[in-house]
Amino acid sequence: DLKAKITATGGFVPTNRRTNNYLANITDTSNEWIIKRTGIKERRILADELATSDMIVPAIEDLMKNTDMSLQEIDCLIVATCTPDMPMPSTANIVCRKLGLKNVFGFDINSACTGFLYAISLGASLIESRKYRNVIVAGADKMSSVTDLQDRRTNILFGDGAGAVLLQLSDDETGIQDSLLCGNGDGAEMLLIEGGGSLYPASMETLGSRKHFIRQDGRAVFRNAIEKMTAVSKALLDKNALSIDNVDWLIPHQANMRIIEAVGKELGIDAGRVISNVQYYGNTTAATIPLCLWDYKDKFQKGDLLLLTAFGAGFTWGATLLKW
Ligand code: ACO
Repeated sequence: DLKAKITATGGFVPTNRRTNNYLANITDTSNEWIIKRTGIKERRILADELATSDMIVPAIEDLMKNTDMSLQEIDCLIVATCTPDMPMPSTANIVCRKLGLKNVFGFDINSACTGFLYAISLGASLIESRKYRNVIVAGADKMSSVTDLQDRRTNILFGDGAGAVLLQLSDDETGIQDSLLCGNGDGAEMLLIEGGGSLYPASMETLGSRKHFIRQDGRAVFRNAIEKMTAVSKALLDKNALSIDNVDWLIPHQANMRIIEAVGKELGIDAGRVISNVQYYGNTTAATIPLCLWDYKDKFQKGDLLLLTAFGAGFTWGATLLKW
């Protein structure tokens, strides 16, 4: 059974950096506190007048440089995001228009920080069905559009970015081996953006009560993120009769350096094999894992086993094993 494989990656982060000192000037925090509690040194922030699609377009253009395929050969575009340009049309459709894609069906997936893992699993099954040959999966979020700059409990965490991968049928044993995707609604109140949907449509009241911004119970999210990413990673390894010693690289969702380190430690993997870039980008939600793949692609050798794991709003969580 041939698998779907990531054959190219692309990425984009805005050039504008939001430093810890900038945040310390507007809220009661400090560079030292932020680094100690989160590991984050800076995040990239997209210009106000630009949207999530404006990061996906350059990420896909970057990806295309690493293939000999033409844009018109793309069959399907799946965008994982919780900060779409607008409720409709989908961000995937907006990207199709901006890139001039004509032979594509595209749609968005909203599973917050787990979105990219849900999306590549779905993309892989489209490839494995043999009905589609070239599927692009992008993970992208403009988290600055939903971050309350006045709230020190969240303004320190998030940044903007986009990553994209091309999925094609593998011609050998490499590729996406297996995934375990999970979710329940049990953590809905612990991490959410309440306003702007059909329950609380935009109104003076929702704006006044700051419902359009992300809100969370940091401690509960922190604890659940470590527990769930560790458990699902172990379960996926067990299911495939593998142990952590078989894993060459662990790529956890990039929310906080302490979460990343704790998951690595619980799983028992050498710290040098745990990938992170949260220091430079903060939490870019659906973009964190594809941005790691993009940043670190030159480190991976053909045949390396990568374990990806994510956790986010819902709660949702999951893990994917892929042979590079
Ligand atoms: N600067 C200074 N002090 C702060 C700040 C800040 N930016 N934020 C909170 N504090 C204070 C709190 O008010 C609290 O003070 P108190 O004890 O007087 O009440 C104290 O610091 C400790 O607060 P905690 O919330 O317990 O701090 P914690 O060590 O848990 O760190 C943090 C907070 C960084 C938000 C952490 O809980 C976290 O990272 N949680 C995960 C959240 C997350 O990553 N969410 C993203 C989306 S989900 C995902 O991607 C997995």
